[in-house]
Amino acid sequence: MNKVLIINASVRNEKSHSRKLTQLFEDNWIKKNPNDIFTYREVGLEEIPPINDKWIASAFIIPSERTNENQSSVKFSDELVKEFKEHNIYVLGTPMYNWSIPSGLKSYIDHLMRINETWKFRSGEPDGDYVGLLENKKMFILSSRGDTGYGKSEKNEHMNFQTTYLKFVFGIMGINDISIVSLDNEEFGGKIFESSKKKIYQRIEQF
Ligand SMILES: Cc1cc2nc3c(=O)[nH]c(=O)nc-3n(C[C@H](O)[C@H](O)[C@H](O)COP(=O)(O)O)c2cc1C
Repeated sequence: MNKVLIINASVRNEKSHSRKLTQLFEDNWIKKNPNDIFTYREVGLEEIPPINDKWIASAFIIPSERTNENQSSVKFSDELVKEFKEHNIYVLGTPMYNWSIPSGLKSYIDHLMRINETWKFRSGEPDGDYVGLLENKKMFILSSRGDTGYGKSEKNEHMNFQTTYLKFVFGIMGINDISIVSLDNEEFGGKIFESSKKKIYQRIEQF
């Protein structure tokens, strides 16, 4: 039995294409894995407060040395980390905004990137050698983008700070099994977009 965490990052609701992708994924997955458990983490429609100075002051000291104030500064972050660790499959639906990711998703990642929780320095001291602490996890990144050509050796590859960043940052946490599916051409609409949707929906149905 898998525990599947569905994370949605679009600030749109009904009109969101990335949300349609995560819904399609869930509908398809549940047919093949009826005993799997799904949890939902909303980072687009609900505000994920950005980390702040109090968070930093607390996150980088060992838990046993945290004051009550320190503990309350990372309470929400602790909850997000706990929830994340409890799952073994992640389904992340996200738009590309300004060649990168929505700010709510960035805040969420900042809360998850916790030293000695999701990653550590190999020697225990700052040494530039990052070791991921999450094991046996699988992630599906389902993205939606207005333009296209962001893939390897394509014309807009250098503008893609979305899927490349997500693959990198979750890789630092130890999630190395990542499948990426991107629905492109949303801004063009019409036949081009319809054909992209058909292709991508079929890929998702194969998972
Ligand atoms: C604020 C904003 C910035 C965007 N920036 C980009 C961009 O840099 N590149 C791109 O290809 N599409 C861009 N788009 C288009 C979105 O990626 C596209 O509309 C996508 O489908 C949005 O996801 P959603 O349908 O799940 O809401 C942007 C859209 C918005 C609203």
